[in-house]
Amino acid sequence: MDQYRVFGNPIKQSRSPFIHQLFAKQTQQQLNYQSEYVEVEQFEETIKSFIKSGAKGANITVPFKERAMVLCDQLTERAQLAGAVNTLTFVEGKICGDNTDGEGLVKDLLNNNIPLKNSRILLLGAGGAAKGVLLPLLAQAPESIVIANRTVSKAEDLIKKFKNDKLSASEFDALGETKFSLIINATSASLTGNVPPITKECVANTYCYDMVYGQELTPFLLWAKEHGATKVIDGLGMLVGQAAESFRVWRNVLPEIAPVLKQLRTKGGS
Ligand code: ATR
Repeated sequence: MDQYRVFGNPIKQSRSPFIHQLFAKQTQQQLNYQSEYVEVEQFEETIKSFIKSGAKGANITVPFKERAMVLCDQLTERAQLAGAVNTLTFVEGKICGDNTDGEGLVKDLLNNNIPLKNSRILLLGAGGAAKGVLLPLLAQAPESIVIANRTVSKAEDLIKKFKNDKLSASEFDALGETKFSLIINATSASLTGNVPPITKECVANTYCYDMVYGQELTPFLLWAKEHGATKVIDGLGMLVGQAAESFRVWRNVLPEIAPVLKQLRTKGGS
């Protein structure tokens, strides 16, 4: 049976085996997908021995996404621009690297009926998570994407890299009461219980998305809901969306996201 695995550190919390098992069942594909904990200094040799065992592909998660990129013989454009790889495919002795995170986000936004074409998007954060989603977001033809970051120079650097006149950088303070159609929180602030410092006028009557997810709404989404956001959505659908896109890259069939997301929300997955 074709073998796939997700490698990370930590990995116990990973829902990817649960998700891919459901995708395999849904699409009647024969495959085995496990998770594996990797010691930080053993990443490269672990991947090489997995390839030697005849495996077909792998997902890569924190903290190895940048190191995985270095291992690749070929990269997709979206992986190159993201500067990180979450999907490896092993073909005829070559390692092909892709990044499906941004596509996962876009799929989830569209599944939530959030219009992206001609939209005005505010992207909070300029770290790895923000960088990874810019190309797929731009591909949806928004009117503009403003990248706001605590360290504004990082947002400016991102813009230089992407060379697209729809992108601009901003400090949080300078946003004032500007209205957007969609605000995406790609900072890691939610992980430490913080909310990015934007005004409540910004979130009112606006779709608000947080790439982070958990049992409860994230601090940003709770705050946005309190201040009249049109709809608040956490990143669990993005997780399933990126998995679906990895599955498509490997198996050439796109599984349905909604039933898997529903199972995760009701049963918690594993
Ligand atoms: P990730 O891979 O999750 O993007 P990262 O590359 O370390 O992680 O980036 C974290 C992002 O969250 C950065 O944009 C960071 O802002 P700085 O570049 O100014 O550090 C942002 N961030 C983290 N904590 C934050 C907070 N409490 N408020 C606002 N932004 C925060």
